[in-house]
Amino acid sequence: MPKIKPRNNPPFSAPEPLSLAEFLERQRNQDLLRFITCGSVDDGKSTLIGRLLLESGQITDDQLERLRTDSKRHGTLAGELDFALLVDGLIAEREQGITIDVAYRYFTTPRRKFIVADTPGHEQYTRNMITGASTADVAVLLVDASQGLQTQTRRHAYLASLIGVRHIVLAINKMDLVNYDAQTFAKIAAAFETASESLAFTSVTAIPLSALHGDNVTQRSAQTPWYQGPTLLAYLETLDVSIPTDPRPVFPVQWVNHPDSNFRGFSGSLTSGRLATGDEVRVTASGQTANIARIVTADGDLQEAGSEAAVTLVLDRDIDASRGDILSSTEQPLDMTDQFEATLVWMHDEPGLIGRVYEMKLATQWAGASITNLKYRIDVNTQAHESCRALGLNDIAVATLALTKPLVFDTYARSRALGGFILIDKYSRITVAAGMIRHNLRRAQNVHRQALSIGREHRERLNGHRGRVIWFTGLSGSGKSTLANALEKELHAQGMRTYVLDGDNVRQGLNKDLGFTDADRVENIRRVAEVAKLMMDAGLIVMTAFISPFRAEREMARELIGAEHFIEVFVDTPLEVCEQRDPKGLYKKARTGLIPNMTGISSPYEAPMEPDLTVDTTTMSPEDVLKLMRGLLVEHA
Ligand code: ADX
Repeated sequence: MPKIKPRNNPPFSAPEPLSLAEFLERQRNQDLLRFITCGSVDDGKSTLIGRLLLESGQITDDQLERLRTDSKRHGTLAGELDFALLVDGLIAEREQGITIDVAYRYFTTPRRKFIVADTPGHEQYTRNMITGASTADVAVLLVDASQGLQTQTRRHAYLASLIGVRHIVLAINKMDLVNYDAQTFAKIAAAFETASESLAFTSVTAIPLSALHGDNVTQRSAQTPWYQGPTLLAYLETLDVSIPTDPRPVFPVQWVNHPDSNFRGFSGSLTSGRLATGDEVRVTASGQTANIARIVTADGDLQEAGSEAAVTLVLDRDIDASRGDILSSTEQPLDMTDQFEATLVWMHDEPGLIGRVYEMKLATQWAGASITNLKYRIDVNTQAHESCRALGLNDIAVATLALTKPLVFDTYARSRALGGFILIDKYSRITVAAGMIRHNLRRAQNVHRQALSIGREHRERLNGHRGRVIWFTGLSGSGKSTLANALEKELHAQGMRTYVLDGDNVRQGLNKDLGFTDADRVENIRRVAEVAKLMMDAGLIVMTAFISPFRAEREMARELIGAEHFIEVFVDTPLEVCEQRDPKGLYKKARTGLIPNMTGISSPYEAPMEPDLTVDTTTMSPEDVLKLMRGLLVEHA
C-alpha cells in the first residue's frame, strides 16, 4: 500500500492542469485506470470524488480556501467542507444545480494514474453513461445506505455490463446515517449480488463508505471494524485490469503517409495484438498481402509494435490500402459483414426509424447503415423485452442492421474496437446512436449477387432511350399524380417505355400493410425506391408520385438509383391551395381530427433543398411544366 497522507494535512502541491490529450501523452506507458462513477442525485457522488481528489493531494491551496468560504456561504453541511461545491465548480456547472454530460477528471497517486468519468444520475442521461463507460475498466456505483438499493443502481449495473465494463464497485455510501451497521451493508450487498447475477461481471466488490466523513475512501475507518476489504482508493490502485486482450493484430489505417516517391507507409495504432518486422499483413477488404519492412515512429524504428504507440508501417511491396482499411496478420485474418445483429442505444430526440440510412463509423471505417428490423426494446429497469417500431431517446434495443458495403468487424464481446460503432445523421452530423455488434447474420454470407448476361444498357439499346427515375414530391393534392400522368402520356405517345408508381395505387398492393406514421412512410419510400430502381434497370422511364415527406429518404432514393439517373421534381403547391383543392376530402377530415398524421397538418413535410426542378402549379400551366420536364429529360438523356 502507498503511504497515504494524513487526512487533515494534505500536501497541497498544485499539479499542473493538463489537457486530456497531454495527460494521455504523458501517461502513455504508465499504469492507467479508467473508471466511471454513477449515482443518483443525492447519493453523494460529488462528495466522494471531491474526497478522493483532496486526499490524494490534487486540490490546490487556493481551491481549498475557496471551498472553505463557499461551504460556509452556500454549503448545505453546516461547518463541513461541501465537496459537491468543489467538484461541480471544477466543471463550472454550479449554477445549473445539476450536472449534465460527462466530465472527465484526472488524478495520480504514487501507484497509478486515474481518469474518472463522472456522469449524472438523472434517468434521461443513459447516453452520457454509455459514453463515459465505453472506455472504463471499473464502474463505481453509489448507493445511499440509508435508502437501500434503488432501481437506478440496477439500471447503472445493466448499462455498465452492456458497454463491457467488467469490474464493479458497489460503493455503499452514507454509512454514518445507518450507524455503520454491518447488517445494513450486508443486506444491500446481497441484494445487488442477486440483481447482477445475470450480468456476468468479472468482479463485484462492495465497500462501506462515508464520503462525507472520509471513512474507507483513502483511509481505513475505525467505524467499520467488521469490514476486512480494501479502501476505495486501495481497491482502485491495485485492481488488475490487464485484460486478456484479443491477441489478433488489428491495425486500422488512419492515413497513408506518402510525402514523396521514396516513402510510403500506413500510419495508425494497433488496437490489439502485436506486429513485428517480417510479419505478413493482409488488407482485410481486398485480401492483398505484404510483409512489414519497417516500423517507423517519431523516436526511430521499432522491431515490434504493440498498442501503446502510433506507428507507420512500411511494407515490402506496394499494396492498395487507404484510410479506413484495416490490416491484420495473414495468419489471423479478420471477418467482414454487411448484415449483423447489434444492441443499439439511441441518443437523439429524433426517432430511429427502420429503413432510414445513417452513416456508420466502425473503427476507421465508414458505410451507410440502416436498421432492417427492431427485434425488441429492453426495459432497463426490469430487463424485460418489449416490441417496438421506432427508437426514442435513451431507448436500448436489439436490432438487425444492413450496410451499404461490407466492413471489417468483430463481436463487441471480443473486441470493443471492432465491435463498437456509432451511427451519425447524414445531414446534421449528430451522433444518434451507439451500437455493439452481437453477431453476424448468416444470410449476409449466404446471399450472393447473381451475374446476369443482359444488362440495363442492352435493354436501353432495344428501347432506344435511357432508363430514368423522375421523382415527384410534394403535399397531398399538390398535383404530383396529375403531372406524372400527363408526362407519361406524352412520353408514351413518343414511343417511350414508361411506368408511373403512384402512392394511392402502390398503397393498395405492395404497400397495403403500411400506414402514415413516420416509420411507415420511411418503409413506403424505401420499397418504392427499390422498385423504381428495378424498373429503371428494366430500361423504363419511371415516374414516382409520392408525398415522400422526408429529405433523408429522398436522398436515399437518389443514392440507391444513382444521382445521374435521378430527377427530383418538387411540386411546390402551398398548403392553403392543396387544402382548397382537397380532391379527396382528406384535409377536411384531418382538420376535424379524423385523420391523424396528415402531411402538412399534423405530420411534417421537408421541402427539398436542391431539387432538379421546382414547379408552382398555382402560376404555371400543365403545358409550361411539361415543357420544362422535356428540357430536363433532354439534359439528362
Ligand atoms: S408518403 O408520405 O408515404 O409518401 P404516399 O404518397 O404514399 O405518402 O401516400 C399519400 C396519399 O395517401 C395521399 O395522397 C392521400 O391520398 C392518402 N393519405 C391518407 N392518409 C394520409 C395522411 N395521414 N397523410 C398524407 N396522405 C394520406
